[in-house]
Amino acid sequence: MSLPGNLHVAIIMDGNGRWAQLRGMPRSAGHIQGAKTVRRIVEASAHAGIRTLTLYAFSSDNWGRPGTEVDSLLKLLRCYLATEARRCLRHAIRINVIGRRDRLPRDLVSAIEQSERLTAGGSRMRLRIAVDYSSKHSILEAARRASRNALSVQDFQELLAEVDHAVPESGPVDLLIRTGGEQRLSDFLLWDCAYAELYFTDHLWPDFGESELREALTDFARRQRRFGKVLAETA
Ligand code: IPE
Ligand code: IPE
Ligand code: MG
Repeated sequence: MSLPGNLHVAIIMDGNGRWAQLRGMPRSAGHIQGAKTVRRIVEASAHAGIRTLTLYAFSSDNWGRPGTEVDSLLKLLRCYLATEARRCLRHAIRINVIGRRDRLPRDLVSAIEQSERLTAGGSRMRLRIAVDYSSKHSILEAARRASRNALSVQDFQELLAEVDHAVPESGPVDLLIRTGGEQRLSDFLLWDCAYAELYFTDHLWPDFGESELREALTDFARRQRRFGKVLAETA
């Protein structure tokens, strides 16, 4: 399988709640299992040669869930960052949390800053975790910050990165994977996915493993990307 050297894969990790409900467990149990999957998939991604992995962990619309679920998700995120930062450091993985920070609990913001500082030197893979993330909000905020001067696509891209607290050079998404059977973007990386290949799978996120990731990458490797052009041999 031949993959581009700077491959950017984004994943909408959906289906934790259904995974738990199918087993008669509370939704929070699905999120705990989902966090275990994150650990496995992060390592498998680095191993597969992915350069940037962006995971949708908590959308701005997820604030609308019951308070107990929101609390357990944010607590899980804080624990994940605290324990996984060291592991990422060992594997030369750089953590970058994208999205809004002004509505997050103070201890979560500290955990984010600490994990980013600790892993800043990581050069093997960039792990971006989207928390309180909304594409529509990011685009609106970047537009608000834009000056009246004519902006290039590159200038606007940089403003978006600034709004999202994203470290530079992630590049556009090449492959967007969504687990859990739904076929929608749910306000995730609308700008960055302009030419992304989309891959939807019915596997619920806690059941998504290394072999499912390989399957998605194999499918991606077979796609013909044209970016609006015609292929040289047919021109
Ligand atoms: C994805 O799983 C995790 C988050 C949105 C935080 P869900 O919690 O959306 O699980 P389902 O879609 O209800 O099964
Ligand atoms: C998208 O899943 C958000 C995350 C995976 C973090 P949702 O479960 O929130 O999306 P909808 O409600 O099905 O669109
Ligand atoms: Mg869902």
